[in-house]
Amino acid sequence: MAKAKSAYLCSDCGASQPKWGGQCGECGAWNTLTEIRLSAPTAAGKPVRHAGFAGAQAATVVRLDQVRQHREARLQIGMSELDRVLGGGLVNGSVTLIGGDPGIGKSTLLLQVMAALSSQRPCLYVTGEESAEQVAMRARRLQLQTSSLNCLTETSIERIIEQSVQAQPALLIIDSIQTIYSEALQSAPGSVSQVRDACAQLVRYAKQSDCAVFLVGHVTKEGHLAGPRVLEHMVDTVLYFESDAGSRFRVIRAVKNRFGAVNELGVFAMTDTGLREVSNPSAMFLAERQSAVAGSCVLVTREGTRPLLVEVQALVDTASAGHPRRVAVGIDAQRINMLLAVLHRHAGIAVHDQDVYLNVAGGLRINETASDLAVLLAILSSLRNQPLADDLAVFGEVGLAGELRPVPNGEERVKAAVGQGFKRILLPQANQRGLKAPAGATLLGATSLQQALERLD
Ligand code: TYD
Ligand code: MG
Repeated sequence: MAKAKSAYLCSDCGASQPKWGGQCGECGAWNTLTEIRLSAPTAAGKPVRHAGFAGAQAATVVRLDQVRQHREARLQIGMSELDRVLGGGLVNGSVTLIGGDPGIGKSTLLLQVMAALSSQRPCLYVTGEESAEQVAMRARRLQLQTSSLNCLTETSIERIIEQSVQAQPALLIIDSIQTIYSEALQSAPGSVSQVRDACAQLVRYAKQSDCAVFLVGHVTKEGHLAGPRVLEHMVDTVLYFESDAGSRFRVIRAVKNRFGAVNELGVFAMTDTGLREVSNPSAMFLAERQSAVAGSCVLVTREGTRPLLVEVQALVDTASAGHPRRVAVGIDAQRINMLLAVLHRHAGIAVHDQDVYLNVAGGLRINETASDLAVLLAILSSLRNQPLADDLAVFGEVGLAGELRPVPNGEERVKAAVGQGFKRILLPQANQRGLKAPAGATLLGATSLQQALERLD
């Protein structure tokens, strides 16, 4: 009989190595290698496969033009915010990992998804964390039609797939992947090798059965998905559920999507009866904005395929001693330092004796450079204690030479700002070129930071 062997897996990146070491050779993390026992090969020397599951056949080479396209490749969930984040509905046979802090509403969302879909297609909700009673209680609280909701309390991946092969659901929900274990491995549930193996089996099952799979993943204190990063590589789509502390608003963001745009946002509000879609998120992000306050600037940003209006807030205050502080929430702090240097060099405005605090209202994280101009205007407004005009919205990237650089989708941003009632839009000249100002609105194009500031005077 062949002997069982060991390998060493990194708990950060999931890379496997034949020998133990203090540092992972792949990602360089220290003290992350843990031993796993590899199961002994079977008599035929092949890994065990599930009986009755099409995966046992050998694959053949196919020409791409002969690959059969499914007629109904996507399932419309009917929650338009989620359908959009997924790239226009749930793709059959896709695997989606959804991460988020405990209590943010992952289980609630997926139960609502199942209820929305189960009238068209059979679905199966597998829970490894809660009892069937708890899930039923939640479904009743959400006022869902419970007669068509199927729930399975199981943590063995082999038995989950067995049940799923029998029930043939169009959607399989696993809540959560960290509780699932494989009988073939000896390590504890939740360990790197278990999570990785369970995920791999589910991905294989999804591709071969055409069943869409949703995996709930826990996040660590730092906000990353717990378990090996390889999970993110194995699945088709990774969604993050985020929220501002204490807020009832929830944002779902696609950080990876093989079937749609990344950074696409879906906005929900948590209510007494579950998650409700927010159809006009710009209005929501601007709802708390006060008029005529210094240090506030409205930015037209773009998340995924949709323009969005948000308020950038700055507070500039005399630094008490030593190094001035630069604190940014929702915006890259490194970029702030760069922008402050540009402000000094090209507009002659120094803030080296000032603390600068920045915040994007509503808990949103902005990743695009189109926020540069809004950040600088908010800082300047706070520094001078002069509010910006109430009907002003801005966007544009600021370069190191002090130039205002164009950003993608200018026209769409202008339309969105005007749609929310903004009358003056400050934007890069190159974005304004060839653009007709919508009725009642003025476009203020500028080629440099200096010129942009003059436009506002
Ligand atoms: P849950 O879906 O259990 O979170 P997760 O699976 O991400 O850990 O959500 C639990 C929270 O949501 C809990 O604090 C109660 C709240 N909630 C509501 O406010 N309204 C509701 O209708 C439901 C079902 C939950
Ligand atoms: Mg849960």
